[in-house]
Amino acid sequence: MLVRLMYASRAVPAVDQEELVAILRKSKANNPKAGVTGVLCFSEGIFMQVLEGGRTAVNQLYNRIAADARHSDVVLLHYEEIAERRFAGWSMGQVNMARLNPALLLKYSECARLDPFAVSGKVSMALFDELVATAAVMGQG
Ligand SMILES: Cc1cc2nc3c(=O)[nH]c(=O)nc-3n(C[C@H](O)[C@H](O)[C@H](O)COP(=O)(O)O)c2cc1C
Repeated sequence: MLVRLMYASRAVPAVDQEELVAILRKSKANNPKAGVTGVLCFSEGIFMQVLEGGRTAVNQLYNRIAADARHSDVVLLHYEEIAERRFAGWSMGQVNMARLNPALLLKYSECARLDPFAVSGKVSMALFDELVATAAVMGQG
C-alpha cells in the first residue's frame, strides 16, 4: 500500500543553507531504511516536500517532520493512495531553484513566486511534477 503526501511549511529564520544540507543529509540516511522517497524544495523561507512510500512509514515520518522546530505552519496539501511512485529515484531529492523557470511559476500562480499557501494542493503537485520532468532536481539517491 503506497501513498503520496505533500505539505508546505515556513522555515524558522535560523534555517540557512547549512541547515538545509543537514536536513537533506539526515533524510538520505533515514529514508531508504523506511522505504521512503521524495523531493524537498526550499525557497524564500518556504519548504515544500513530497513523501512517497508505505502508508505507515509516510504517516510516521510526516508526524515527525511536522513536530520539527525548524519550521512552522505545516499544512497538508495533498494525500493520496498511489499505484506507483513518481520520485522513486530520490531518497530525498532537492529542487534546484537556480533552474526554476519563472514562467513555470507564472503558469500556475498569480505572480512568479513559490507560494503553496496561496494555491491549491493540486496546483502545487502539478508544479512539482513539472520540476521533476524538467530535471530541476538534484541529489541522486
Ligand atoms: C523541512 C524538513 C524536512 C525533513 N525531511 C525529512 C525526511 O525526509 N526524512 C527524515 O528522516 N527526516 C526529515 N526531517 C528531519 C526530521 O524532522 C527529524 O529531525 C529527523 O527525522 C530525526 O531523525 P533521527 O531520529 O534519526 O535523528 C525533515 C525536517 C524538516 C524541517
